Amino acid sequence: MVQPVIAFQDPLGQLPPQASTFAGDVDELFYFLVWVSLASFGLILALLVYSSIAHRRKTPDQPALSNTTHNTTLEVVWTLIPTVVVMLAFAWGLKGNLDQQVAPADALQYRVEAFKWGWNFYHPGATTASEHIYVPVDKPVKFTMTSRDVLHSFYVPAMRAKRDVVPGVKQIVWFQPTVENGPLLDAAGQPQTDAFGNLIGGFDLFCSEYCGDGHSVMHRKVYVVSQEQFDEKPWDLLPEDPVGRGEFYYKLNCVACHSVDGSRLVGPSFLGLVGREGRHTDGNAYTADEAYIRESIRKPMAKVVEGYAPVMPEFTEAQLSDEAVGDILEWLKTLK
Ligand code: CUA
Repeated sequence: MVQPVIAFQDPLGQLPPQASTFAGDVDELFYFLVWVSLASFGLILALLVYSSIAHRRKTPDQPALSNTTHNTTLEVVWTLIPTVVVMLAFAWGLKGNLDQQVAPADALQYRVEAFKWGWNFYHPGATTASEHIYVPVDKPVKFTMTSRDVLHSFYVPAMRAKRDVVPGVKQIVWFQPTVENGPLLDAAGQPQTDAFGNLIGGFDLFCSEYCGDGHSVMHRKVYVVSQEQFDEKPWDLLPEDPVGRGEFYYKLNCVACHSVDGSRLVGPSFLGLVGREGRHTDGNAYTADEAYIRESIRKPMAKVVEGYAPVMPEFTEAQLSDEAVGDILEWLKTLK
């Protein structure tokens, strides 16, 4: 069992935990920029306040004391010093950026697919998507990312890793985790959650590009585990029974838009869905039988339920197999 990481903070404790080889460099540059900005702000403010008091007009009819318009030495100094500082920040940032662009050749290869609204993470060699990411400590890991629909952004603050996920483009991001922080498991081996339902342990992963209604739901975890734990493939825990698997696929793909308690989200609730009767936007009546639900997953735009926007993405066989859809149906039948 691994406790949540609260150490590994930057010296001032203002930034997320430092959990990758990038973190030290990124934070040093960040604080360099902060201190340079504060110093120049303080200097300018001090000169402004001093001049306002020392050189103020003391009587209403006082003539101008001087009208100096030029001081070459001063102008050279206040041009050169900021130029050097800015070029230093540029070179520093460029070096860090180049380091983050090129992954080591031996990095573990992950595939990431973002969609409205969720992530599919494929671990090295895996054919089934996972809800969360597991990485081995002290090994470089590389993510090749695509989007099914709009612009998303892969962001793991503790790793100082961030990259836009762009439709039609393969984006790369990599990092090397330095701090072990696995899931906090209960006696049954299930990840534990806090009072708000958030998973305890692991590092946060966010979508950091506003992508619509479910943007905030694209929150996942990056678990950093030992090589021994990693070799056990902890991401590969598809439940044995179809109902359990169905719920797993729901969490992976549908949870952002379909509630299980009857409440209205982007799409209709799944509570009591099987056998439900209603109308489509074209006025035709429907009954939600198995064939209808399968069609609604594969071709969501064919029939849209009255009162809802036509926004659901298609789930192809590659993204959600026929067996997975069957499991989802078995699970849906239990929601009464
Ligand atoms: Cu995906 Cu915001």
